[in-house]
Formats: sequence, C-alpha cells, structure tokens
Amino acid sequence: MSFDLDLKGKVFAAPMAGVSDLPYRKILKSFGAALLFTEMVSAKALCYKDKKTYRLTNIEDIEGPVGVQIFGSEPEIMAEGARIVQAQTKARFIDINMGCPVPKIVGNGEGSALLKNPALIAEIVTAVKKAVSIPVTVKIRAGFSPDTINAVEVAKILEASGCDMVSVHGRTREQYYSGKADWNIIREVKNSVKIPVCGNGDIFSGKDAVDMLESTGCDYVMPARGLMGNPWLIKECNCAIDGTVYTPPSVEERLDMALYHAAKLAEYAGERNGIRQARAHLSWYVKGLRGASRLKNALTAACTVAEVESILKGGNEE
Ligand SMILES: Cc1cc2nc3c(=O)[nH]c(=O)nc-3n(C[C@H](O)[C@H](O)[C@H](O)COP(=O)(O)O)c2cc1C
Repeated sequence: MSFDLDLKGKVFAAPMAGVSDLPYRKILKSFGAALLFTEMVSAKALCYKDKKTYRLTNIEDIEGPVGVQIFGSEPEIMAEGARIVQAQTKARFIDINMGCPVPKIVGNGEGSALLKNPALIAEIVTAVKKAVSIPVTVKIRAGFSPDTINAVEVAKILEASGCDMVSVHGRTREQYYSGKADWNIIREVKNSVKIPVCGNGDIFSGKDAVDMLESTGCDYVMPARGLMGNPWLIKECNCAIDGTVYTPPSVEERLDMALYHAAKLAEYAGERNGIRQARAHLSWYVKGLRGASRLKNALTAACTVAEVESILKGGNEE
C-alpha cells in the first residue's frame, strides 16, 4: 500500500487532542487542509468498545481524507484497534502516535516512550500493517532526549516495516513544546527514506511553511498550535506555497468564525457539552483582540450559543 490518497495540497492539519474535533476539522478542510487527523485515541479503549473513544473516530465524507490516530504499546492491541478503525469508521488511513510527551502516556510506554524501543516500533507497525489494508502512517519526534536523537534510525525502521508516511516533529520528548523545533532532523529523515515525509514544528505563518519545505525538502507540512483559533493559517500556508496573495481575516470575520465554530460544536455535541468544549477554542479566537481578557472571562462562563453570540457581538462593538 502506498500513501495514495489523492491529496490536493501540501498542507495538513496536525492532530491535537482537545482541538481536532469534527466541527473544527470541517472548518480546517474548508480552508484547504489536504489531510486531517482525529485526536489521538487509545487502541485499548477501542478494543473495550469505549463509547467516548468511538465518538472521537466519527468522520464525515465532506472532510476528505482523514486518519484516525491511535496510541498504545502492545502490537496485538494496536493491530486490533486498527482493524476496528478500518471496519467501523470512515478513516482513510491509520496514524500511529509515537510522539505524545504526557507523563501518563509515556509512563505506560506509549507515545514518545516508543522512541526508546525501536524493536517494539517495528513489531507494532508490522502488526498494524498486517491488520489493515488502508495506509499506515506514524508521527514521531526527533528523539526521546537530547542524547538519544534517533529520528533517522526510527524512520528507517518504520519504512522497513511498511509504514507509508512519517511525520516528524523536530523536538525531543524532553522539550515538550518548548524551545525551537530542529528542522535539520526533518531534512535528515527526508534524506534517509523513500516514503513521504511530513515536517512539523513551529509553523506559524505561510513563510514558515515555505521555509520548512525548502530547507528540509519534506513533502508536506503540518502546523499544529498555530491553528488554535486560526484556521486561516492553512490558507495562508497554501497561498505562500502557491505564490498567491493572502488576506488575513478582519476582526469581524474572526468573531463570526468563533461563533460559527461554537454553534457547530453545540449542534454536534449538544449545547451544554458543545459550548463547554468550545470555550478553549473561543479564547484562542479572541486572543490578541482589543479587550481579549474581558472577552475570555465572559466566554469561559457562557453556557449557550445565544450567550456566546451576545458576548462576541459586544466584543466587536468596542
Ligand atoms: C493541545 C495539543 C494537543 C496535541 N495532541 C496531539 C495528539 O493528539 N496527537 C499528536 O500526534 N500530537 C499532538 N500534539 C502535538 C502536535 O501535533 C504537534 O506535533 C506539536 O504541537 C508541534 O507542532 P507546532 O509547533 O506547530 O505546534 C498536540 C499538541 C498540542 C499543543
């Protein structure tokens, strides 16, 4: 299986737990994201038929190609989780998380902890590949710690195990999200494998996307934190790559999008839950605007779409 998903661009939207919900993915798609990922889901929880976990794997046709990202450490369970994803969801590919730095995950030997165990990486990817016929991709970090940078070795193992694409976040686990991502490691991975490479880490502008593509030779780029409250970043990256003019959104457009996003979450998850989930997104949308901290405080207390609307409308009139 090759990574043949008929992609319409080079800019993906990186998986983010608590951010990459279905309504937001549809917004990112509308701005031109060529590929989307779900939030990470536990392979074990899928095997136990956990309802909340299943819900995270809901995908709609309109989203285009979406991968379900699974995490775990046991090859058979990862394979079974992948089988479930292929059989019961609209995922077009499986992505395996080998980058999560969170102590609870790392403590279980999952996420970025896998980088310390290349033999297990090979077992997991081989087992998952055997279990499904859709492509299998893996997201890694530069390494676990500064003294154990091994993305190149890991990428070669992934390729040899049948992985169809590798995404590289140029930070170590120990860095979490701090410091600067090392794009050199992305270039080194690109020069070491034949499978497509997606670069990740510190893309906050269209220029960053072009710089990463040019300096590393990677095939695709994938912003993450820059997309929080700013789905326009996908368009900005695409415009920069295509050499077309990008016009940033007006304050009114930002506030309209914030309300639209909250309303879609309310529609999807029910008003109470949806607005609760929307609060973080809403605070990102208003970041940097005049009166942002007052707006944020008010939005944190909002419980209905109507309340969100009246707060945002008030914000625009300042
Ligand atoms: C809130 C948050 C949640 C994240 N969740 C995931 C996740 O579920 N799976 C994953 O592979 N990476 C996850 N990441 C990591 C991002 O996909 C990305 O690798 C990282 O933020 C670096 O890219 P950036 O510098 O553009 O933010 C998450 C990051 C953040 C900030």
